[in-house]
Amino acid sequence: MIDFHSHLVPGVDDGAADLDQSREALAAMRAQGVTALVTTPHVRGSQTERPDELGAFLAQVDAGFEALRGMAADEFPGLRVERGHEVMLDTPRPDLSDPRLRLAGTSFVLVEFPFMAVPPHASQVIFDLKMQGWQPVIAHPERYSNVDPTLAEAAEWRRVGAYLQVNGGSLLGRYGKGAGEVAWDLLRSGMVDYLSSDYHARGSLWIAEAVAALVAEGGAEQARLLTEVNPARMLDGQPPEPVPALQRPPSFWRRLLRRP
Ligand SMILES: [Fe+2]
Repeated sequence: MIDFHSHLVPGVDDGAADLDQSREALAAMRAQGVTALVTTPHVRGSQTERPDELGAFLAQVDAGFEALRGMAADEFPGLRVERGHEVMLDTPRPDLSDPRLRLAGTSFVLVEFPFMAVPPHASQVIFDLKMQGWQPVIAHPERYSNVDPTLAEAAEWRRVGAYLQVNGGSLLGRYGKGAGEVAWDLLRSGMVDYLSSDYHARGSLWIAEAVAALVAEGGAEQARLLTEVNPARMLDGQPPEPVPALQRPPSFWRRLLRRP
């Protein structure tokens, strides 16, 4: 299993506070079957418009990542640890030319919308990124407070060239009923390209449980594509394979999410 959304670089964002928390997070990841990961500290797109500020921040992330990677090499041999960022689109045209901002130095970039809400003209921003040669991967589309439940907006993002990454915890209702319903609806529409953890190095890691939930809903093949095949392709700079729509009608997890 390959996970490419987490906050495990110590002391740079709201994820791991120190190397001990990073270590515990890596242990949890390995215990749940993760063989490679890209960890993705938060950065604001607007920081890329202020090169001095960006340079200072990236130097801090560089140091934290080196500590993380050194510890991983010593204590978790065989676990591949790469870096990227989760870029907040708080400006319409962030400068993503520094490869450290992208996922493992590929042309793929993990992006999120500010204030957990979809801004006006989100599709245009995504399209512009694509036109600059980047492959935007929208983090947790199911979690935005104003996400369009008809999924028309998500379909438009995919049409203009974005890929969608759902959080494992959403499938289990960990981000609320609404996010859970949208996550499952996206899967039933065949619109999800990747499943990742967005683990912040505390609390439970829900990867294995989310995969089990997906398999229980008849999604074994989808789980393989979402957590193994497509992230591996991303690391090779390749676009994801299409993920077939989940066929089975809503059952246990949907009933759970709908419980008042
Ligand atoms: Fe995140």
